[in-house]
Amino acid sequence: MIKDLTNSQSERQSKRSSDLRAKFVEYQDLQLAMCLKLEAIADSLPNIFDKDLWLKSSQSISPVLEKAHSFEELELFPTLLRQKGAELRFADVLKRLESEHHNDEDYAENVAQAIGNYVKHNDHNKAESLSWMLRGFFESIRRHIAFEREHILPFLEGSTKQP
Ligand SMILES: [Fe+2]
Repeated sequence: MIKDLTNSQSERQSKRSSDLRAKFVEYQDLQLAMCLKLEAIADSLPNIFDKDLWLKSSQSISPVLEKAHSFEELELFPTLLRQKGAELRFADVLKRLESEHHNDEDYAENVAQAIGNYVKHNDHNKAESLSWMLRGFFESIRRHIAFEREHILPFLEGSTKQP
């Protein structure tokens, strides 16, 4: 009886971990797709090929990041920290990732505003600084996600590579 309860508890934990993994990857993929759109904008500067698309992309940056960060900070990270023996292993790393989230969210607002201004004024003198800003932003997001995939993802059920 006790063994059955332990098994079903372990199955539930395993399913929860696998669900978290799927959600984590889904949010990361959304952020990577956003990076691709921003890279396309940076590549096309100083020209603007589609004002509406640029504005739509700029307006989606903060919501995409905030949803992903909320999931990580409110659901994923607390679960990882509850894993047996995880405190020491994860606490510092997760704190660092949270701090990167806050920096990226601040940066996102500036990026969105800069795209909006460029579309409005079409000032070619600002093309280089906008390109520099966009590249700095999406490269930071890509580095953050690459780190998470290397160091966090393997601790979730369903990963082929276990730590
Ligand atoms: Fe993150």
